Amino acid sequence: MPTSPRTPGRYGQAGQLFSKQTQAIFYNWFQKVFFGPEEVAIPQYGSIAEAVEHHPRADVLINMSSFRSAFESSLEALQQPTIRTVAIIAEGVPERDTKKLIAVAQRANKVILGPATVGGVQAGAFKVADAAGTLDNIIACKLYRPGSVGFVSKSGGMSNELYNVIARAADGIYEGIAIGGDAYPGSTLSDHCLRYQHIPGVKMIVVLGEIGGRDEYSLVKALEAGAITKPVVAWVSGTCATLFQTEVQFGHAGAKSGGADESAQAKNAALRAAGAVVPDSFEDLEPTIKRVYDELVGAGTIVPAPLPPPPSVPEDLAAAKRAGRVRVPTHIVSSICDDRGEEPTFNGESMSALMERGATVADAIGLLWFKRRLPPYATRFIEMCVVLCADHGPCVSGAHNTIVTARAGKDLISSLVSGLLTIGPRFGGAIDGAAQHFKEAVEQGWEPDEFVETMKRRGVRVPGIGHRIKSKDNRDKRVELLQRYARERFPSTRFLDYAIEVEGYTLQKAANLVLNVDGCIGALFLDLLHSVGMFAKAEIDDIVQIGYLNGLFVLARAIGLIGHCLDQKRLGQPLYRHPWDDVLYTK
Ligand code: ACO
Ligand code: LMR
Repeated sequence: MPTSPRTPGRYGQAGQLFSKQTQAIFYNWFQKVFFGPEEVAIPQYGSIAEAVEHHPRADVLINMSSFRSAFESSLEALQQPTIRTVAIIAEGVPERDTKKLIAVAQRANKVILGPATVGGVQAGAFKVADAAGTLDNIIACKLYRPGSVGFVSKSGGMSNELYNVIARAADGIYEGIAIGGDAYPGSTLSDHCLRYQHIPGVKMIVVLGEIGGRDEYSLVKALEAGAITKPVVAWVSGTCATLFQTEVQFGHAGAKSGGADESAQAKNAALRAAGAVVPDSFEDLEPTIKRVYDELVGAGTIVPAPLPPPPSVPEDLAAAKRAGRVRVPTHIVSSICDDRGEEPTFNGESMSALMERGATVADAIGLLWFKRRLPPYATRFIEMCVVLCADHGPCVSGAHNTIVTARAGKDLISSLVSGLLTIGPRFGGAIDGAAQHFKEAVEQGWEPDEFVETMKRRGVRVPGIGHRIKSKDNRDKRVELLQRYARERFPSTRFLDYAIEVEGYTLQKAANLVLNVDGCIGALFLDLLHSVGMFAKAEIDDIVQIGYLNGLFVLARAIGLIGHCLDQKRLGQPLYRHPWDDVLYTK
């Protein structure tokens, strides 16, 4: 363990650890961070070399990596010409690795803070890692502007405590460093005291040592050699170790009572003998600092400056909200599900509960679309709709589009969406229109012929009536199956009956003007909504008006469209080009 003071030369001009141009590279993660009231984006790079190349003025590297990788990355950082200081935050870096890093740093005249350091702070200028704690603490400890005290400690936790003590007993710190609690710190107490000796702003030095190791003796030597002439107030903690019968290991790796001269008592005595001001106990440290500070003020060495108001930093919104100091309007309202708890809920029902009751796709539709736990006959009806509408061959509009898109080399989602986009008033998207118009007709008490003729006068084709290939003599099986089910299971089929009467009238006009699958689903959903006993009239009006029901066709047909896309890919089909002879070219 080196006990001789190191030269201050490697700390740059006038012993400053952080230059005016200091830029930190936050290695190991990238994030937006607040800088005062504004957010700044810290760029991320894949390697230290790349980061250094982009930021040649950055001279401090804060290494947040774990003890497993701290050695390699710190070594790499020390090898970068522009990096002068490396702070290693990780605890548990193997001592032999730290010794290698120290050797590399000494050869290159560079500084290591840590390992196992909480960092350091140059008041009003720069802060490494978690040093100094929260903004509240920074303001309470007057760290937003420089004081006159250079402080160095082994312990990070105790640094924060001492920033406070020094702010009360003196005018606060100029700079504070926690060298870390390992047995072999990358830089020592005396290294930093020697730096402080050369920093004009530092008028007195406070040192907090620790039982174990011989680091404090290098400070003793520096004091004896007259290399440090500024007043030093020092305390080595761990004096209570003598109360124990056996060797004591405190929290830090290096804080264990070894030989007699590593005891807190011995080191305090040696420091006192070398000229440091050493109180009789830790409790006495604050008044001792105050006494030395007051003497320096009395001698005119320190001219206390009026404390400027702290820069105003807006409170963090989340913290203010938690404390009930602000209320913030939300941007989104949601009423169907909640993913904040242990497991997501669909309209209040947990996923576990859904699985326990063997919930189906139709149950999920009931909860997420209609916000109801629908009775089994209703969910079975929805399932039938989904299965029956899942596909209707490759020639229908949607499948055709999907096939063409897939054959143009597009991905699954593009091919699917291309097919879905064809769903509309003519193809598959007539369920809502059918429900709206059948509902209006029944509510108005129109006779079926009166309804069809009214629609004709309006110039609107009756949604849900008519099919390109289905007709009076070529019935749509889907319509038959749905009708049969509804007649068996629905409490009422009033709207279906009306739609069948409409079909009876339209079939007199043309054989293909059948009640189609969209019209059948539209009419039967009206029956369901009215007879299930769960929906008020206004809610049914809403459901029909908003247009929930086309969703059934969209959902169902997505199954078939995905199938068509995968089929084309599986079959390796080439780009589709429509044949010329299938186009009528005309003027
Ligand atoms: N209401 C009133 N008259 C109609 C309707 C209708 N829904 N459909 C067709 N007609 C009339 C036409 O006005 C035309 O009469 P006209 O000769 O006096 O001018 C005649 O029937 C034939 O019309 P076409 O356009 O040749 O019929 P086509 O077979 O091409 O139309 C279609 C089929 C698009 C489905 C049509 O009937 C229609 O628009 N229906 C309403 C929309 C609808 O329900 N679509 C869903 C179909 S099912 C599904 O896609 C899953
Ligand atoms: C379908 O379900 O896609 C069909 O009813 C439409 C059609 O053109 O056959």
